[in-house]
Amino acid sequence: MRPDHYDEFADGYDQANASSLFNAHYERPAMLELAGEVRGHRVLDAGCGSGPLALALRERGAAVTGFDGSPAMIELARQRLGASTPLSVLDLAAPLPYPDAAFDDVIASLVLHYLEDWSTPLAEFFRVLAPGGRLLLSVNHPTGAAIGEPGEDYFATRPYTDRYDFAGTAADLTFWHRPLHAMSDAFAAAGFRILRISEPRPAADTPPELLPPRLRTGERTAFIGFLMFVLDRP
Ligand SMILES: C[S@@+](CC[C@H](N)C(=O)[O-])C[C@H]1O[C@@H](n2cnc3c(N)ncnc32)[C@H](O)[C@@H]1O
Repeated sequence: MRPDHYDEFADGYDQANASSLFNAHYERPAMLELAGEVRGHRVLDAGCGSGPLALALRERGAAVTGFDGSPAMIELARQRLGASTPLSVLDLAAPLPYPDAAFDDVIASLVLHYLEDWSTPLAEFFRVLAPGGRLLLSVNHPTGAAIGEPGEDYFATRPYTDRYDFAGTAADLTFWHRPLHAMSDAFAAAGFRILRISEPRPAADTPPELLPPRLRTGERTAFIGFLMFVLDRP
């Protein structure tokens, strides 16, 4: 997928992201919980989209820098964050323009799964993190593709395309499925250590009408959606 693919549906995505189960009540609260205390941290939001996570991190006292491959998403982020937050249009698949050890945390929410090759972004995240810094990631849970497409090989790194409706705008998104061991191999090859793996639950204050039926009734407590990691850069 081109890095500017989100230009085609940026407004619809931004609108959906603000209130959707998957973003507003599941991924974002879980990422903020994993990030914990960020006051005074220099945080790079890689693939920041229209900036809702960057805004929440800034409100918690972080000094946030963001980039995204989509100029339209960066324009929305500028409107949300104002001129004081450094924002750039950059491709995650290419070397980043930031100096070595410039950040305490790098956060990449729901973006790495668009790339077949994780070696450049992980090497760049390692380089721009200060020693002891953290990389927080969320990606589509690999088991989701295995369950949804039982005829496909779980162990293959392969693309798949899903159709979405973002506030009335249709969008085809192409992701790269990769098995769990391929993710941990890529982290280790880049020099990271895994501190936490999280399979979060929706936030406690999720409006019940947004929840899948078996969570609404209490039969289940979670669903397979995203897989999240906290890594550290020794
Ligand atoms: C699902 S959205 C998540 C946005 C934001 N992280 C959030 O959670 O609200 C994925 C974002 O990744 C960006 N993206 C996709 N491929 C990219 C690439 N190669 N380089 C930089 N950004 C990319 C898209 O433009 C989009 O804004």
